Amino acid sequence: MDDSREAALALDAADPLAGCRDLVTYADDVIYLDGNSLGRRPVSTPGALEDLVERQWARDLIRSWPAWLADATATADLLGEAVLGVAPGQVAISDSTTVNLYKLAVAAVRARQGRSRVVIEADAFPTDLYVIDGVARDHGLEVTRVEADIDDGVRATDLAAVLDDDVALVCLSHVGYRSGALLDMVELTHLAHDAGALVLWDLCHSAGSAPTPLAESGADLAVGCTYKYLNAGPGAPAFLYVRADLQAELRSPIQGWFGQRDQFEMAPEYDPVPGIERFLAGTPNVPGIVAVREGVRTIAAAGLPALRDKGVALTSYLVDLADVWLQPLGFRLASPRDPARRGSHVTLEHPQAWQACQAWIAAGVVPDFRTPDRLRIGPAPLTTSFEEVWIAMDRLRDIVATGRHLEFPTERARVT
Ligand SMILES: Cc1ncc(COP(=O)(O)O)c(C=O)c1O
Repeated sequence: MDDSREAALALDAADPLAGCRDLVTYADDVIYLDGNSLGRRPVSTPGALEDLVERQWARDLIRSWPAWLADATATADLLGEAVLGVAPGQVAISDSTTVNLYKLAVAAVRARQGRSRVVIEADAFPTDLYVIDGVARDHGLEVTRVEADIDDGVRATDLAAVLDDDVALVCLSHVGYRSGALLDMVELTHLAHDAGALVLWDLCHSAGSAPTPLAESGADLAVGCTYKYLNAGPGAPAFLYVRADLQAELRSPIQGWFGQRDQFEMAPEYDPVPGIERFLAGTPNVPGIVAVREGVRTIAAAGLPALRDKGVALTSYLVDLADVWLQPLGFRLASPRDPARRGSHVTLEHPQAWQACQAWIAAGVVPDFRTPDRLRIGPAPLTTSFEEVWIAMDRLRDIVATGRHLEFPTERARVT
């Protein structure tokens, strides 16, 4: 490979998404490689929030509710179409990923009464493990954790080994939070369906960075957050997906009034709407939904196929530089090498990864650290240039080659 800075500049000059960088704000002087944790802020978000606060809330007050509810539905459908590639009426925006996962997992196991097991990957994001354990305990079910290579992710053979007609639900992450491994949604969903199980996908790390073949795979359920690649901001509401033909059959365990058929009839008995809104619970977070709308618009403007191409190009470039510059310094690639099996982040293992992470931040580059000894590097396709990747990797090479990272503490911070 050509590891010169000029080569990086040439890649930027040929980048069809270069113009889209202006959709978000760069109010800092860091190289930000953590778009897979918290995406940058869209340029349009402050104005949209100001309009909400100053006009719709301060002046129009409660008369704004019909527009707010219509906007919530329109934003969910836009997210469905532009990010998830699904037809309208199958996505809702609500709560956090954790809460949505709980609602859908309970709905799923209750729809598969008589089956005694729930399957989840052993290296799932911790909240997924906790929620599934709790749901299983409360429903008298057993949890089977699928063991798989933590850098490579779950393969069909791993899942097939634990499936039988006792499995009610399979819960998997489309892109692994630690390794970035992109699972084969179509193949794994078909396997689970062959065993009669429902499948619930966690899309936190793929939504906005990789196509999610929900429609093609026939996946039943999905959840995901909006603050990573969707750029909706810290704590913005999450989304959930329920395939249209399943909606009438599944019931949310939280029987809230926003899922009620004729909400303002104020009837004393719960009678859920037949559609996706039955998975809503209470009053929606309107500022959060406005921020989701602006974030999703950035993804829609760039287009998911172009974002995926750029993501593959950026991570492949990063892996090439790591091979040449960092492998001799003790780094090992802890993500799939094949870009078709990788999301938009790359993980590098190093015995002093936490110290290297702190030194890298001190040198103006923001990645994050994941246990046990990994640097997680997320060059968000919309907002990261090849030159930024070059500069960041050059700084890391320099830090570790000179041992400067060893000056940093070995104890882990509260947030990594
Ligand atoms: C894969 C995955 N699932 C679930 C979550 C938890 O999401 P939340 O805190 O919004 O519930 C995260 C958060 O980073 C995540 O990365």
